[in-house]
Amino acid sequence: MLTIILAAALSVATPVLREDNIPQIVSLLTLEEKAAILVGCGSTAFDGIGRNDVGVKGSAGATHPIPRLGIPSIVFADGPAGLRIDPVRPGTDKTYYCTGFPIGTMLASTWNTAIVRSVGEAMGNEVLEYGVDVLLAPGMNIHRNPLCGRNFEYFSEDPLLCGEIAAAYVQGVQSNGVGTSVKHFALNNQELNRLHNDARVSERAAREIYLRAFEIAVRKAQPWTLMSSYNYINGVHASENRWLLTDVLRDDWGFRGVVVTDWGGGYDTAAQIHAGNDLIQSGSDARYNALIEAVKDGRLAMEYVDACVTRALELIVKCPAFRGYKFSEAPDLEAHAKVCRAAADEGIVLLKNHGALPAGPDGVTALLGVTSYAFIAGGTGSGDVHRPYVVDLRQGLSDAGFKLESGLDEFYTAYMQDERWRCKMIDGNNSWVIDRERPIEVVPDELIKQAALTSDRAVVTIGRVFGEGKDRDLYYSYMLQEREVELLRKTADAFHAQGKKVTVILNVGGVVEMASWQDLADAILLCWQPGEEGGHSVASALSGEVNPSGRLPMTISRRYEDEPSAANFPRVFEDKPFNYSFYRRLEGNKKDYVVKDIDYTDYAEDIYVGYRYFGTKARGAVAYPFGYGLSYTSFRWSDLKIEKTGSLSEDSKCLKVSLTVTNTGKRAGKDVVELYVKAPGRSIDKPERELKAFAKTPLLEPGQSCTVQMTVPVESLASWENGAWSLEKGRYRIIAARNASDKGLRKALRL
Ligand code: BGC
Repeated sequence: MLTIILAAALSVATPVLREDNIPQIVSLLTLEEKAAILVGCGSTAFDGIGRNDVGVKGSAGATHPIPRLGIPSIVFADGPAGLRIDPVRPGTDKTYYCTGFPIGTMLASTWNTAIVRSVGEAMGNEVLEYGVDVLLAPGMNIHRNPLCGRNFEYFSEDPLLCGEIAAAYVQGVQSNGVGTSVKHFALNNQELNRLHNDARVSERAAREIYLRAFEIAVRKAQPWTLMSSYNYINGVHASENRWLLTDVLRDDWGFRGVVVTDWGGGYDTAAQIHAGNDLIQSGSDARYNALIEAVKDGRLAMEYVDACVTRALELIVKCPAFRGYKFSEAPDLEAHAKVCRAAADEGIVLLKNHGALPAGPDGVTALLGVTSYAFIAGGTGSGDVHRPYVVDLRQGLSDAGFKLESGLDEFYTAYMQDERWRCKMIDGNNSWVIDRERPIEVVPDELIKQAALTSDRAVVTIGRVFGEGKDRDLYYSYMLQEREVELLRKTADAFHAQGKKVTVILNVGGVVEMASWQDLADAILLCWQPGEEGGHSVASALSGEVNPSGRLPMTISRRYEDEPSAANFPRVFEDKPFNYSFYRRLEGNKKDYVVKDIDYTDYAEDIYVGYRYFGTKARGAVAYPFGYGLSYTSFRWSDLKIEKTGSLSEDSKCLKVSLTVTNTGKRAGKDVVELYVKAPGRSIDKPERELKAFAKTPLLEPGQSCTVQMTVPVESLASWENGAWSLEKGRYRIIAARNASDKGLRKALRL
């Protein structure tokens, strides 16, 4: 009897986690339990007490549950091009495929936050319905250099575009009641030696470029979590950097969420907790033990542990696992494929068009290039998604009613049958494999010549796939290979001799060199890695069923050597097949900073990243400017109006800018207005112009107009000087332009 009464009293006395009793729960947790919450399930030291059987197959990590206090485990899985979990599980025929959406760079190319939000909503629904709590996405590091192996996961060279697209993505995913983890915070702009490389950067460049993108996403969308990066920043590891994770992120920007390490990132667990890096993923026994020891021997005060545990619990109570959400494991993949297609339709960038497009589906199309027959939906590494299918260009064109030239079709079909094994390994659906080689281009000359006689046009696809763990090789990935240029040249010669046009499709995860071969093409469509529906989207762009409206989210320079960071980016392994990220692990994790671009990287170009550099210091070095993209229709811009709101002393002071866009051509289309600001640049060194707002129009029918409205907070014009933001006084020019090199419509005002 006594035992029953005691047990009843105890069960009343032990509360379970609720949204409103977190401080009480923290006070009841033992040190071991706190460590188990903070150090992920990759550690087994805690197993006897709490875990396990948590997780979703193929997910990236989870937290330990504490059943006695009603604390569930929560599950993390990758993005960013969709949810990454294993598509098959032992003991069942059921599949768990996820939609393969366009890569991050392509989402940014839409310049359409509404469409990015819709992608996030669909993706977040898969996160929810497959039983995951937090999506490890979006990736939002700045495109500092075109050779960065993970650029495809990231958005742009410009912090405003990057931040706005990321915010829309986060809002979309989180509208499902699941979390995101914006990553990799911060300055993770190269893969080579990524765990140990020290990014050496001025505070101005950090604040204005590299951190600014995160700041926008944090302030606008409050991501539930943020992932600290693998690298060091000015000598301190990102995950152990209290300035970064507490002073800037929380105190300056008001971030209310949780910071998660990148998987296995950092060295000193106590320093991480002290810095405000709440969760250590994926966790290891060593980390778990280190945390406990650090508290016991007084190196880590309990208040820091409690702050992290409190935030972790605040995250947990928001998660589906805590709500006991009954997930279906059956998201509507067909509906999401439509979202994928709509986003890819808007992200395709028409770079060149000398009367070649739109064309088809009438007539006969000669389809060349191995990648036309094995489209690349996305990149490799953790950013890869196990998608149910990939529509290649051959299928996309056939579905859209294009008739394909039979000689080439037969040749490539047979050839790709033989090369299938190779494509399987590298088509972005098998992850963690080395990019570099596509099947080589071997189509016989006679077939090209024959096709030039029997078909009406040629379409040639060039493909590139790469991903996490290594950077791109200049000669094999960024440059076109000899055989590819030969294919273009032979096709151009044969087709041009017959008065027929050649279109090049770039199915790539990042930019390739273009200046040397682009004259061979009459039209160039940059279709990135467009996700599982890619072939359909490209077919629509070719035929004009969809009018391309994508714009470049980065500059394409004429030569790699012209890039502002070219002299400070690793290029040392060109003679070796691989350049693994784990290359230089020094004894005992000592840093000796010996090798330039490997042990450390100087961000010597400072704030002059991308068009900020080209537009200010090297105008002639641009093949295609940032923000560039053509359309099948034309637009007239008029009535640029600027209005100041708020008084000078108010923080809320904004410039309200409006502009009328009229479709003056013969086809319906969408336009993008890019709003740049040129600062006086007298007392502060400033780039020639900086993007401060943008807007995409709705679909405008021929003759139709709309007025776009944009807002520029005046504080966004400030520069980081001597440890504070400062706004230069004087005459500012507001430039509504089609791209970073376009003169555009201008107005001046004094601030
Ligand atoms: C990557 C992260 C990813 C994590 C979990 C790391 O290797 O850098 O982007 O989220 O693994 O898979």
